[in-house]
Amino acid sequence: MSFRVQPAPAARPNRCQLFGPGSNPKLFPKMAASAADVINLDLEDSVSPTDKDAARANVIAAIGSEDWGNKTLSVRINALDTPFWYRDVVDLLEQADERLDQIMIPKVGCAADIYAVDALVSAIEAATGRSKRIGLEVIIESAAGIAHVEEIAAASPRLTAMSLGAADFAASMGMQTTGIGGTQDDYYMLKDGARHWSDPWHWAQTAIVAACRTHGVLPVDGPFGDFSDEEGFRAQARRSAVLGMVGKWAIHPKQIALANEVFTPSDAAVAEAREILAAMDEAKASGAGATVYKGRLVDIASIKQAEVIVRQSEMIAASA
Ligand code: COA
Ligand code: MG
Repeated sequence: MSFRVQPAPAARPNRCQLFGPGSNPKLFPKMAASAADVINLDLEDSVSPTDKDAARANVIAAIGSEDWGNKTLSVRINALDTPFWYRDVVDLLEQADERLDQIMIPKVGCAADIYAVDALVSAIEAATGRSKRIGLEVIIESAAGIAHVEEIAAASPRLTAMSLGAADFAASMGMQTTGIGGTQDDYYMLKDGARHWSDPWHWAQTAIVAACRTHGVLPVDGPFGDFSDEEGFRAQARRSAVLGMVGKWAIHPKQIALANEVFTPSDAAVAEAREILAAMDEAKASGAGATVYKGRLVDIASIKQAEVIVRQSEMIAASA
């Protein structure tokens, strides 16, 4: 490690963030009863401009009236280039029950976007005497967002999570696709005449993971639009988990169990990680810094890798 120690992100499960439009309150009890770790009530792009006031009122009422259990409860406000966002923040902080945990800011482009919301939230908290400090989460879904991802990750101690929003990201980047995440037909390499598909989201994901890990923020994969394609969701989610992301959005209840499955370390993975830790305990006892486990090298770095899996598994079990 550098002299500056990497900060730990919030120790809470974030395997699945379930979204639902604030304009569709019939979904709220189903969302509250779901197995998602995080609930995102949406005031932004799943709500038409004519429904913004009604959606805001629905969401404020539901924050206090539904039983959200031990889920992280978040509301996605409108973006800072709209006339809606300040009213979202003011009404949520002045009127919503203390059960609200977090506000999600979409389409962030620079650290100042978070500064603006942080300043407004801080003033309302002080004026109203709210006792629970509201957290912030952001979506990276523009060229500016990914270009400034590190300053965004460092922007506020309130920031707990950062998601990649594939659809708006693709549009802002001018990508020639209407797909929301997953394999893109035209993104392939040719080898001996055969096509091998590559992952156009990979570089943005790794940039987000690096920025988040540097600043103690949870990196999250965003939506997978084709909710009929379960194997496609799994494949995308597994790539995200291998890259260091801790969860993925669900835009349909079908995707909740898939996300929970992929982002909960499997029994086999946890067992292997514990065996590596035991092998290294033995090695250390005999004065060695490296040893052989199942025919491959394990050393002191392997302890840290194994601990990532064991700690994630224990944290999820403890929160169940
Ligand atoms: N949360 C909880 N329950 C949901 C749900 C959600 N987001 N979306 C659908 N359901 C429920 C339906 O009410 C239905 O319940 P029922 O069996 O009791 O009738 C069941 O799941 C099956 O729904 P289905 O008929 O397959 O979907 P739909 O046509 O009703 O809705 C969508 C499809 C995509 C419009 C809807 O899932 C949705 O609004 N998703 C969230 C969109 C969103 O928030 N986008 C912003 C982030 S990208
Ligand atoms: Mg978006």
